[in-house]
Amino acid sequence: MSSSTTTQATNTVQEFEQFATLTDEQADARIIEARARLGRRVVLLAHHYQRESVYRHADLTGDSLKLARLAADTDAEFILFCGVHFMAEVADILSRPEQTAILPDLAAGCSMADMADLEKVECCWDELADVLGPPDARITPVTYINSAADLKAFCGEHGGIVCTSTNAPAVIDWALAQREKVLFFPDQHLGRWTGYKKGIPLDRMAVWDPDLENGGLTAKEIEHARILLWKGHCSVHQMFQVEHIRGWRAQYPDGFVISHPECNLDVCLASDHVGSTEFIINTVTAAPPGTRWLVGTELNLVSRLAEQLKPQGKIVKFMAPTVCMCSTMQRIDPQHLAWALENLVNGHVVNPIRVPAHDAELARTALTRMLEMF
Ligand code: 13P
Ligand code: SF4
Repeated sequence: MSSSTTTQATNTVQEFEQFATLTDEQADARIIEARARLGRRVVLLAHHYQRESVYRHADLTGDSLKLARLAADTDAEFILFCGVHFMAEVADILSRPEQTAILPDLAAGCSMADMADLEKVECCWDELADVLGPPDARITPVTYINSAADLKAFCGEHGGIVCTSTNAPAVIDWALAQREKVLFFPDQHLGRWTGYKKGIPLDRMAVWDPDLENGGLTAKEIEHARILLWKGHCSVHQMFQVEHIRGWRAQYPDGFVISHPECNLDVCLASDHVGSTEFIINTVTAAPPGTRWLVGTELNLVSRLAEQLKPQGKIVKFMAPTVCMCSTMQRIDPQHLAWALENLVNGHVVNPIRVPAHDAELARTALTRMLEMF
């Protein structure tokens, strides 16, 4: 076999450049060979937004909540995470110390997660203290799982919690039972939709703009708010607009609309169902044959679902007229997967994700509060 298509036995770390020019087919063959050699030492977890050429190699797939549980439960020595950085961090935090989480490409971040950082959240906490007195007495911090580990640690330290798109309503209930207000970051849309579903009036959910003094709010507005919504959003889900739904419904009045709660409130309100990626897949899969669906979430998921359900006569359509993929999820490709796996075969761990111990301990507190609730 040529050196480009077979696993290399070497004692030195193989650089990614040696893999960058492989075709998908060549990378595929090397992934299969390396996995056979590693056996059960490695488990491959993949989020539903992964491209098909990666997703098909997954042992287990899921939304953020399911993947967090799977990472906590696996016995494999290596957890190869085909997703984005915060997901691999969660895997590291919830797994045992002798296990290693690996992210095949470190550039696979999440632009929404990057919209909140510890410095800005701590500044917000201090500014809230000036208005409300000690925030720990009045505000529960809630971070969406799409956030860096140090923000989860912040929540762990301040009596707060993590939520996912699946459990946000129950988490908000819990958070408001602890203290009178919630600071929700980084996704304003998930926070607003969840608060709305809980019956909190829109005028009692104020947007906190981290780039403005006091979040751009007056002391009266801060006092009045039950939920302070961090001004963050998902660049993919912001593309979906209520006009897309209206146009489609005019054409197909019998069709169904399903959206992810990272979409804006108008889109969620105009949808028949709103829920996580796993919920979307399960709902459309369980629907009667011959039904027609408009789906407001990332394109890889929607295209895969459309292909899978075509034999049942279901028509599944992407909500936006333009292509919008999660560019960071796309960073994980078969070439990076082959690179990470072959290095493991040769005893080298490339791109391990290791959350510093102090942050990991506090973040685990916030994650465990969530996981124990459900
Ligand atoms: P899920 O938890 O629904 O998989 O969502 C994760 C995500 O990043 C959606 O953009
Ligand atoms: Fe982050 Fe949006 Fe990509 Fe989800 S789709 S990982 S929220 S950038």
